[in-house]
Amino acid sequence: MSDRVTVERDGAVAVALLNRPEQLNALSEELMEELVARLEQLDRDEEILAIVIGGNERAFAAGADIGELARASAIELYYQRRVERWDAIRGLRTPLVAAVSGYCLGGGCELAMSCDLIVASETAQFGQPETGLGIIPGAGGTQRLTRAVGKALAMDVILSGRRLSAREALAAGLVARVVAKEAWLEEAKRVARDIAAKGPVATRLAKESVDRAYETSLSAGVEAERRALYLAFASEDAKEGLAAFAEKRRPEFKGR
Ligand code: CAA
Repeated sequence: MSDRVTVERDGAVAVALLNRPEQLNALSEELMEELVARLEQLDRDEEILAIVIGGNERAFAAGADIGELARASAIELYYQRRVERWDAIRGLRTPLVAAVSGYCLGGGCELAMSCDLIVASETAQFGQPETGLGIIPGAGGTQRLTRAVGKALAMDVILSGRRLSAREALAAGLVARVVAKEAWLEEAKRVARDIAAKGPVATRLAKESVDRAYETSLSAGVEAERRALYLAFASEDAKEGLAAFAEKRRPEFKGR
C-alpha cells in the first residue's frame, strides 16, 4: 500500500488520516482504494472498537480528485463503479468518528457524512460545490445532506455552492460537536475512546439501529431495534455491564 492514508493505533482506537496534503486531500482513486482497504482491515480487528477518520488542519478533504474526474469518461465511471466502492465505508460495523478541520467539500463532505458522527474544528467549512463544476454530488451528498439538515438548507448548499461554517453545521444537525481549532483531532479521539469504553457489541448494534432510522418506516425501525436489543441482551457484555452497575464497579467488556 502507498502512504496516502496513515493509520495509528492507540489502544482500542485507530486513527486513519488522509495524507495528500498538497492537493488538500483530494480523494483520488488511489487514496480511496487505500482508505477502504485500511478501514475494512481495522473493522475485522476485534481489538479496534472505534475509528477516527481525519485529514489535516487545513483540509479534511476538498472532494474527489477533479483532475481524475476530468480525464474519466462517464462509461468508465459506470463500469469501474468508482463511487459505489465508497459504500463499503457505510457497511463497516465499527463506529466511525470524522475529525474535520478546514475544507470539507464535495466528496470530502460525503465521506464525513458517511461516518457515524462528525467532530468539527471551528475552522471547518462544509460544502457541496459540484454544481459549479457542472456535475452533482455523486457519493450520497444529495441524500445524506438533505436528511441531516433538511431540504431548504441542502438545496441552498448544493445549488448555490454556499459553504456552511462549523457553527452553522452544528445548528443544522450535520455536526455533533464543534471545538477550538487546536482541539479537532484530540476531541475526536476523546469521543472515540468514550465509544471504545462501552460494550463493543452494544455500540455496533446501536449504530446499526440508528442507521435503520434512515432506511425504514418508524414501526419497522422500532421492530429492528427491539431485535437488536435482544441480541445485545444475549451477549456476555450485557451480563457484565448490568452486574458491574449493581456491584458499583467499572465493567470489563470482552466484545462477546
Ligand atoms: N481535486 C484535485 N486537486 C485539488 C482539489 C480537488 N478536489 N482541491 C484542491 N486541489 C489542489 C489544487 O489544484 C491545488 O493544487 P496546485 O497547488 O497543484 O495548483 C492545491 O490542491 C491547493 O488548492 P488551492 O490552491 O485551490 O487552495 P485554495 O486555498 O486557494 O482553495 C479550495 C481551496 C477552495 C478548496 C479550492 O482548492 C477548491 O475549490 N477545490 C475544489 C473543491 C471542489 O470543487 N470539490 C468537489 C470535487 S467533485 C466531487 O467531490 C464529486 C463527488 O461528489 C464524488
